[in-house]
Amino acid sequence: MTIRTALSQGAALLEQGGVDSPKFTAELLLACALRCERVYFFAHPEQELREGEQLHYGRYLHERLQGRPAQHITRRQEFYGREFRVGPEVLIPRPETELLVETVLKLRPGARIIVDAGTGSGAIAVTLALESKAHVMAVDFSRAALGVAAANAYRLDARVGFMQSDWLAAIASESVDVVVSNPPYIAETDRATLQPEVRDHEPAMALFAGADGLDAYRKLIPDAWRVLRPGGLLALELGFGQAEAVAALASNFTERQILADLASIERVLLCQKPADCAPPELRLP
Ligand SMILES: C[S@@+](CC[C@H](N)C(=O)[O-])C[C@H]1O[C@@H](n2cnc3c(N)ncnc32)[C@H](O)[C@@H]1O
Repeated sequence: MTIRTALSQGAALLEQGGVDSPKFTAELLLACALRCERVYFFAHPEQELREGEQLHYGRYLHERLQGRPAQHITRRQEFYGREFRVGPEVLIPRPETELLVETVLKLRPGARIIVDAGTGSGAIAVTLALESKAHVMAVDFSRAALGVAAANAYRLDARVGFMQSDWLAAIASESVDVVVSNPPYIAETDRATLQPEVRDHEPAMALFAGADGLDAYRKLIPDAWRVLRPGGLLALELGFGQAEAVAALASNFTERQILADLASIERVLLCQKPADCAPPELRLP
């Protein structure tokens, strides 16, 4: 079987199975089976597949048709032009999260300390560390996620500090210039309506946040207030339809602004801890 035939047959099978972007997915899976980049196919459409490559490709197609995400099969996902290793321990980074990173870089080019809360694969933290001069700290409650994130930082040669923490509990007060986070924001009540490949394959801790999807913001926003220096920036990714409710949770902050993504969905909340904010009271033992 040639590369051309493998791609067209694979895409047809995926399409019949109701898989999104069947042609692109077939290319991803075949590239994984052949251990090459997708561009290789365009130069070598008549190349014959070896027996082992056909077997791998067939297994990958079968797994995708069974609902396993393509990124879990290939164990990789691109984010901000770099390849991140992913697996069932972490959320697969989504393209819309690039807006969060882009905005932080634009608004705070000189930030000295940035904390990524709920780092998952490390996509946000690693990108910020590579695209700025800031010292980036990344926290997550999941030790398994921290392992994946640390491996991504090592592979991409990014200097990031990692800590296990329940949101920002492990971070010192008023020490941070920017808190950035893409927290879990799906309502438990929406669990049944989620795509099975998300619901059954991505970590629940990365997806769900209480009955209304706002529990993580309820914890994270006061934590951010505590750790940010006066004038510090909080940048949060938002779930669909959550902008108003999350902005209300951040009512102590000033300069609140909501940005829409390319699909015109309100996707990012930006706000600032007031620059003239009184220092926290000194508490004596
Ligand atoms: C939506 S995922 C985001 C992952 C990654 N930042 C990204 O954008 O692809 C949310 C992350 O928050 C983490 N998380 C959930 N609850 C947490 C908590 N209480 N403290 C710290 N991190 C938490 C999850 O483990 C998960 O990695």
